[in-house]
Amino acid sequence: MAKSTEPMPGTSDLFPEECQVWQLLEDTAHELFPRYGYGELRTPIFERTDVFLRSIGDETDIVQKEMYTFRDRGNRSLTLRPEGTAGVMRALANQGIPQGDERRVYYLGPMFRGERPAAGRKRQFHQVGTECVGKSAPFIDVENIRMLLHYLSTVGIDPSSMRLLLNSRGTREDRQPVADALRAHFEQHVSDMCEDCQRRLTTNVWRILDCKVESCAPFIEAAPSTTDLLCQESRDYFQQVCGGLDELGVDYTVDPRLVRGLDYYVHTVFEVVFAGIGAQNSIAGGGRYEINLRGVSQPVEGVGFAAGLERILLAREELSVTPPAALPVHVFLVSLGDQALRRNLRLADALREAGLTALMDLEGRGMRSQMRNANKVDARYTLILGEDELKREVVVCKNMESSEQVDFPLAEVVAHLRSACGLS
Ligand code: HAM
Repeated sequence: MAKSTEPMPGTSDLFPEECQVWQLLEDTAHELFPRYGYGELRTPIFERTDVFLRSIGDETDIVQKEMYTFRDRGNRSLTLRPEGTAGVMRALANQGIPQGDERRVYYLGPMFRGERPAAGRKRQFHQVGTECVGKSAPFIDVENIRMLLHYLSTVGIDPSSMRLLLNSRGTREDRQPVADALRAHFEQHVSDMCEDCQRRLTTNVWRILDCKVESCAPFIEAAPSTTDLLCQESRDYFQQVCGGLDELGVDYTVDPRLVRGLDYYVHTVFEVVFAGIGAQNSIAGGGRYEINLRGVSQPVEGVGFAAGLERILLAREELSVTPPAALPVHVFLVSLGDQALRRNLRLADALREAGLTALMDLEGRGMRSQMRNANKVDARYTLILGEDELKREVVVCKNMESSEQVDFPLAEVVAHLRSACGLS
């Protein structure tokens, strides 16, 4: 039986040592995306359920089986966000996107899906995502894809270890003729396919292409290529996306079976897969979309992606990327006697104000146990203050690597340590 202190299955506690690498992933987003003109948007973690129903699509796995939906005390149906795009679109529409204008935003934070937990599949997971909303042009998609790859390589995923899969879902007008052609093909085989595929034949035949059940694979393999069934406009759009990626020297594989699990996509869809992290090998996915929002007459269009931070971390581990170095403890203050302890309280304060990391024993323990602590936290310098030093208005400064000890006037020690630690 699970211990009562364990987090719920599919969720994790992240301790300070682990958070260092999480902060690296977050800091990279804050540093990189603004270089492409994107600003951060923070939306609520829960929304009215219909925000997700309308945009993600009734027939998707997310809506059918994975949403954390509950009624609040006012009997309103609310849902923990399973992804970021729907909430971002709601927020932008609420603010009002002037016709012909473009908004570029990025977001990061937890998302919630009631999936069966597995390696790389959590119930509370974290995404960094971006959305470029309001305009449609193939090169906007190209730039967005390039930004995703730029992000992934900056956080340590070697470009040669990942593959960019690309496809087109065409315009909304393409959906019906392609669906008809797919249905004509799958109708002949559906009795030999899984239950989900049997249901999808009538509800959303495109999604059959996404089925991962092994026994369905040969029928999916034999299906007509959706890209060949698209109208000329859609094929031209896709060609330009491919051309833009070629221009930038981005490697990609056209995968006519890539449909993605959300219904809002039109034209470009893409996924980045990383071999070697198990079945959940998609580290990021995205595409161009059109979303109908309540109170907005025209569908709102945009392009974006989301990358899963847990999966990026698995990929980093697989590639043995060195974790970020722990922040150094610059100084540990050792106090001998009550007066020294009080003086050190002030000194530690001044050191921290000056930008140094300063730790100290606050319980008035013996010298040996304080020195043991200084070693344990791997302090670069230890300052030792006793009655004698107080009388002389100095403090003993021990370099913990060389064991060299020097007396410094108390009035000068902050400046000295700042320079010794490379801060000035
Ligand atoms: P998605 O493909 O559903 O797309 O999710 C994007 C990424 O989130 C996945 O590639 C994966 O890395 C991560 N992810 C999804 N589910 C889980 C899970 N249960 N556990 C761990 N990681 C997970 C979207 O969410 C779209 N909103 C992307 C987008 C933005 N499209 C346009 N704009």
